Amino acid sequence: MKRYNRLLMLTPVLILGLATPSQAQVSEKDTYYQLPDETRMTPFRDQVPMVFVTPNQPEWKSLPQFWNEGQEEAIDPSTGEKVQRRVIKIKVPLGLTQAPPVPAENPMTLQKWVLGKKLYYDPILSSDNTVACASCHDPTKGFADGRKTSVGIQGQLGPINAPSVFNAAYNKLQFWDGRAISLEDQAQGPVTNPLEMFAGKGDPWDEAVARLRTNPDYVRMFQAVFGTLPTRDAAAKAIATYERTVLLGNSLHDRAEARMRQRVTEEESGKFELTAADYAAALKDEFARKGPALKDLGLDPEKDAGRIPEIAQRLLNGRNLFFNKARCANCHSGETFSDGEFHNLGAGADTQGNLPASEVGRFARLPLGHKNPLLIGAFKTPGLRGLLHTAPYMHTGTEKSLEEVIEFYDRGGNANPWLSEKMRDTAAEAAYLRARAAGQPVDPNVRTFGPAKRPIIPLKLNLTPQEKADLVLFLKALNGDPLEPIVADPNKFPEVKW
Ligand code: HEC
Ligand code: HEC
Repeated sequence: MKRYNRLLMLTPVLILGLATPSQAQVSEKDTYYQLPDETRMTPFRDQVPMVFVTPNQPEWKSLPQFWNEGQEEAIDPSTGEKVQRRVIKIKVPLGLTQAPPVPAENPMTLQKWVLGKKLYYDPILSSDNTVACASCHDPTKGFADGRKTSVGIQGQLGPINAPSVFNAAYNKLQFWDGRAISLEDQAQGPVTNPLEMFAGKGDPWDEAVARLRTNPDYVRMFQAVFGTLPTRDAAAKAIATYERTVLLGNSLHDRAEARMRQRVTEEESGKFELTAADYAAALKDEFARKGPALKDLGLDPEKDAGRIPEIAQRLLNGRNLFFNKARCANCHSGETFSDGEFHNLGAGADTQGNLPASEVGRFARLPLGHKNPLLIGAFKTPGLRGLLHTAPYMHTGTEKSLEEVIEFYDRGGNANPWLSEKMRDTAAEAAYLRARAAGQPVDPNVRTFGPAKRPIIPLKLNLTPQEKADLVLFLKALNGDPLEPIVADPNKFPEVKW
């Protein structure tokens, strides 16, 4: 197997001469990937595909929960026979109308998911057997770690806040600076990071894979799923498969939206606009089922039922601020409340507006020939579902509460030479420049940068205390339902044949 593998992989590389020497080395390693031996894989009829069912599919309504058992008829490509087989149907939570994209080379099956879940919670991939993915992306801490910055092997403090895995399946790019193109790509990072999971001589993945290969359970599972021994490629695929089901939705806000759509359809008014009555209806249901959103909003299930109209009005105000005056939706747009883009808010700038070398952000990751100065110090817009579980906030972890985040935006972020235009008062900057050119007095508090002494004036939102409170309340209403134990409980696994 091994020799066959090398021969096949090296020949085209050498003949075509396309690869750099380091790529040729990578190809040579059988710890990285192997060709599958189909005779070792689970037969087609016993494979259990996993499919996403989205709210716009008719079947969605009939599925009782997130994780559903089903049956399907399929044609076995090796025999041409029709087979009846088990299928897992994942009910995509309300509020997310799209299924997470799944790469063609990594279709989802139940066995792969189980293997991925085991790897995610197993410290076996860390050099001293102490740290797992779940150490920093812990289901009891909103799939993050609750720390300002992460702690890896041997208690080492990392430089940056751990984002949540919630809905990471929808990210266009992974990591704060977007340096990974997929969950599969991302999952290989921590093992090679000496601060996070692996310190030692040699290639961390060689060692991690060697360790997996001494474990008969893992060898059996990898062979059943991939027809290979444990490899880096296969481990990354399995972990990503598990992560694609860490989906968070069905927030109070989503339920108010669903109510609104139903109402407008019944009224045939065509006016798809949220009203306080829509929030009130969703709140009423939540009080009736004593649901988790009550606690998220700081409401007592017994005493506060009489406050529904007041709370509904505040939620509507918060929602309108988010989309209008506070301009949040300029970047936090779409179903996960992220545009998937990168912006400089100055979260990591010091009081003088200097960005330390570690704060270059997206710019550093752009390929040569594509460096865009507008992306210096820019970091990825995070989604806003599940915020109540994932404090502290920003890539720096410097904002401890949602109230602090709102104060940060109210002052326009932190001035620095590359502050996003969307965060700046460009009209005031132009007025400043004209006044200075005309020799008129200018505001001495305005910070200027560079040889041209360019003024950078953060755009103040001028939110009132009530508006700030309503905006925070709206963010809390995005929190969403807790995940089902089959996803979030490390010890709970579905029945599966190996
Ligand atoms: C020591 C703590 C630590 C461990 C262990 C760890 N991570 Fe992370 N993870 C982080 C930090 C910190 C970041 C952000 C790093 C950055 O953006 O530069 C991150 C980023 C991510 C992201 C990107 C999310 C986004 O929104 O961009 C995903 C997904 C993720 N980790 C999954 C995993 C998986 C899977 C594993 C196990 C193979 C793992 N992590 C192990 C701390 C950790
Ligand atoms: C110019 C684009 C932009 C605008 C406008 C914007 N955000 Fe953000 N938001 C981001 C980016 C980028 C980050 C991450 C910044 C960083 O860590 O450097 C972020 C981070 C956050 C976080 C922290 C999330 C976490 O998991 O750490 C919250 C909460 C948030 N924004 C809410 C809001 C609210 C509320 C508004 C409106 C008042 C708003 N944002 C306006 C782009 C924006």
